[in-house]
Amino acid sequence: MEIIKTLGEFIIDRQMEYPDASGELTSLFSSIRLAAKILHREINKAGLADITGAASSENVQGEQQQKLDVFANERFISALAQRGVVCGIASEEEEQFVKFEETKNLDGKYVVLMDPLDGSSNIDVNVSVGTIFSVYRRVSPVGSHVTEEDFLQPGNKQVAAGYVIYGSSTMLVYSTGNGVNGFTYDSTIGVFALSHPNLQIPKDGTIYSVNEGNYIHFPNGVKKYIKYCQEEDADTQRPYTSRYIGSLVSDFHRNLIKGGLYLYPSSGRYPEGKLRLLYECNPMAFLIEAAGGKAIASPGQRILDIEPTKLHQRCPLFVGSPNMVDKLEQFITEFE
Ligand code: AHG
Ligand code: MN
Ligand code: MN
Repeated sequence: MEIIKTLGEFIIDRQMEYPDASGELTSLFSSIRLAAKILHREINKAGLADITGAASSENVQGEQQQKLDVFANERFISALAQRGVVCGIASEEEEQFVKFEETKNLDGKYVVLMDPLDGSSNIDVNVSVGTIFSVYRRVSPVGSHVTEEDFLQPGNKQVAAGYVIYGSSTMLVYSTGNGVNGFTYDSTIGVFALSHPNLQIPKDGTIYSVNEGNYIHFPNGVKKYIKYCQEEDADTQRPYTSRYIGSLVSDFHRNLIKGGLYLYPSSGRYPEGKLRLLYECNPMAFLIEAAGGKAIASPGQRILDIEPTKLHQRCPLFVGSPNMVDKLEQFITEFE
């Protein structure tokens, strides 16, 4: 019989490496795994069920919610609330953080921040979407109600982060800071199986990923860098390849495996960048650093060191192969 290592087994093996580990994180991951399987099921029949298209609501950022945004948000919240290890969550789809008020939850040590459905504009056209999650230890006392301070922690305090990509196959990729591992879902037996152990991003890459339609509004240094990517130079394998899906999870996942740079700069419509620090930038920055890459918001500004001031804060994101981020940093520094 083919030997497979399931996500559940992998997490328990890892837990045994830490004698003090209480199994709470294991339980938290079980919740995420369960919700991911439910979403996998719904997304795979999206074209058949009444689940594509817009919901009749907007989220706190005034963005039109898709039915699947709402569904994913509900599923992840209820899975995370079920076990008593999480005391509250914050979500891109919720204006305020959500307190879990049952006694078992008040004793939970962890908070989870998430983008339940990333790339939701792609759902109606059968293009991959994702879920992003980020886990912190609470700072408020165990046994009390969760507070905003529990959520407004810099990314360098993350205990774990990861994403689920619902692509040509469904995968769960996560890190607790010690390496990044990817698991592919085998729906015939209902398990995530280790398929991408110890993912490392190539130091150099030849892919750049940006919504170039916004070029006119980009900062000068970013414009110059994009022109650099397009120049001919055999030694550095330029011109580079341009790839942009419009789902951060999918663009990130491809660049993690192949090497590349993802850019979401500030632009006219989004003067502070579009992506959300707590739900998108921090978890991706945590993963990329654990895989040997870099993530910055501006020259010298590591994403993970930003002190957040509000839940739905946005920030520019430049993330990917370390040598590509360094090069971009030089351009921004020189031309700003
Ligand atoms: P969400 O669907 O969670 O709102 O995120 C969409 C994000 C991100 O996934 C993607 O990379 C980016 O928005 C695309 O934005 P543009 O359409 O402006 O390129
Ligand atoms: Mn998103
Ligand atoms: Mn989203």
